[in-house]
Amino acid sequence: MIDLIDKEQRVINYLRLSVTNRCNLKCVYCVGADKFEAKYLTIDEIERVANIFVTLGITKVKLTGGEPLIRSDLANIVKRLRSAGMVEVTLTTNGLLLEQKLTTLIAAGVTAINVSLDAIDGATFEALTGVAAVNKVMQAVEASAKVVPTKINSLLIKGTNDSEIVPLIEFAAKAGVAIRFIELMPIGCGTIFEGVGADQVKDVIASKYGELVAYEKQIGNGPAKYFWIESLGIALGFINALSDCFCDKCNRIRLTADGFLKPCLHFGQGLDVYKLFALSDIEILEEIRNTIYNKPIKHHLLEGISNESKMMVQIGG
Ligand code: 5AD
Repeated sequence: MIDLIDKEQRVINYLRLSVTNRCNLKCVYCVGADKFEAKYLTIDEIERVANIFVTLGITKVKLTGGEPLIRSDLANIVKRLRSAGMVEVTLTTNGLLLEQKLTTLIAAGVTAINVSLDAIDGATFEALTGVAAVNKVMQAVEASAKVVPTKINSLLIKGTNDSEIVPLIEFAAKAGVAIRFIELMPIGCGTIFEGVGADQVKDVIASKYGELVAYEKQIGNGPAKYFWIESLGIALGFINALSDCFCDKCNRIRLTADGFLKPCLHFGQGLDVYKLFALSDIEILEEIRNTIYNKPIKHHLLEGISNESKMMVQIGG
């Protein structure tokens, strides 16, 4: 198959597909106080766009939300995506519903799972998410690690959970999973918080576990830069959209829960695929190809400019 490329010659092969804009956590930096109308594509509509994406060469998909596990038909969505030709169907979840749905999801064809976990301390977790559920999430990570490649995603906020770096890493080591620290991006209600710089995280880790050694092997499809912590035997990743911009290597596009194709997280522009459903598949495919071709070159967050006004929970992270 011929690679799908944009006008910057970037190969686009990875779709982040949001299946709902609802979430059962209320993380301060993501959801905020706003109430959004619940809007999402039906399983048949998802299958239709998935077939079009596969025809275009996009064969890796990450299911996001909101919280994807809220959808009761998620396992069937996974099956349809695999049948459509998606070779990797991964998902990102807050873990609340994961343990109870794990077996069904794996049987349906999920190939890897990321769990968001920002604190090990119960009170800190609750302050960030609004729900006292840290034990449930930790159990879910441990259960998931036994059956499928699993990673933890952690986001640090100054003055809130910056003391959780070591507890999070120790938990990841105990569960035997990789952990990534995601730099806070000034999107939606993320703008009112201050993140923790990668250098600070690296200093904390180096003083406790020794110098970080760059890890050369590719893990997953994302932009994380990995290091190996020898004394713990786990990989540690950083996703630093601001301090280590990776736009030039971006391989991804996003489809929001209501069917809007976003070629870039940081730009509101895109294609309302939902509105095109009356057209034929080939007509929709050409519109999608054209939108992807014109993917923005890079974000302008460092210049203080955001070209997207939506909340993260509406976009899909
Ligand atoms: N900046 C960076 N990542 C964010 N997420 C949500 N909001 C932001 C933001 N402002 C991502 C994090 C988190 C997941 C739920 O969504 O990865 O773990």
